[in-house]
Amino acid sequence: MRVVVTGSSGKLGRATVERLRADGHEVVGFDIVGSPGPGFVRVDLQDYGQVLDALLGVTARHDGLDAVVHLAALPVNGLVPDAATFTNNMNATFHVLHGALRAGIRTIVQASSITAMGFPDFANLTSLPVDEAYVEANNTYALGKVAEEAIAAQLVHWAEGTSITALRFTNVVAEGEYATFERAGVADYRRDLLGTYVDARDAATAVALALDHATPGFEVYNVAASDSGVSTPTAEYAARNYPGVPLSEGLGEFETLMSIDKARDRLGFEPVHLWRQEYAATPQPAS
Ligand SMILES: NC(=O)c1ccc[n+]([C@@H]2O[C@H](COP(=O)([O-])OP(=O)(O)OC[C@H]3O[C@@H](n4cnc5c(N)ncnc54)[C@H](O)[C@@H]3O)[C@@H](O)[C@H]2O)c1
Repeated sequence: MRVVVTGSSGKLGRATVERLRADGHEVVGFDIVGSPGPGFVRVDLQDYGQVLDALLGVTARHDGLDAVVHLAALPVNGLVPDAATFTNNMNATFHVLHGALRAGIRTIVQASSITAMGFPDFANLTSLPVDEAYVEANNTYALGKVAEEAIAAQLVHWAEGTSITALRFTNVVAEGEYATFERAGVADYRRDLLGTYVDARDAATAVALALDHATPGFEVYNVAASDSGVSTPTAEYAARNYPGVPLSEGLGEFETLMSIDKARDRLGFEPVHLWRQEYAATPQPAS
């Protein structure tokens, strides 16, 4: 397939481009920053004219696309004022999704986030692990992700055969970022993330699987590592950090509190880059 990846210069974008190329796809990256070259086009996704034109074709780069992977965003609160985060992310997503439909592209994967499910306080949870049915936005970035999912859920009906898959990634950890897990034993480590994480390469695998399994309609999948990102057993961690929230029976000792059952069942997603091995392989500072 010929696939565009927006946000291709970012953390998840780089891993996704690498994965999709390794899978044999022809990949073009769109980003506002990046090195000029055959697989890249500098596009300001806030400008609908640029987005639509670039999706239709770019001289010397591509003359049509089969699929869009939309990852570009300001990925956290606080980089710019809240309203600017919302405006950038909402405009980019509307432009990419709407532009893709106008350009005749029917397969889209978009980045959503754990922030659409109660981050950072998780004050209103009714059960754990959290699955895709749970939606709660507590800040502007999260509100954007909830709204972007809602836009996608409507747009799939606008053109026959359209498939949009929203992947709710938890905190994405790149190779080289595992030193932070030295705090894994701290009682509330990653409390604002339900104790979860996902390796960037596994997150990229989820994107690849979502493309492979695209069927008409809108679907949401959680994307997290299968284990928690903490060294406290899951039941103990949940009781301490989310007291009173019922926990499913039969969970593994260190099982994630962000359910990936749906992605496992329907996409065949199985994370392979887990923090214990990655952290053990991380060079430790000389003492
Ligand atoms: N990093 C995480 O922990 C995490 C967790 C959950 C969801 N997500 C989501 O995954 C996606 C990728 O996140 P990331 O960690 O790779 O972020 P990142 O900041 O590393 O990369 C995002 C890229 O998007 C580009 N971009 C932003 N606005 C743009 C615009 N208007 N026009 C063109 N390019 C623009 C940036 O230049 C950047 O290269 C985002 O949608 C983010 O919200 C990330």
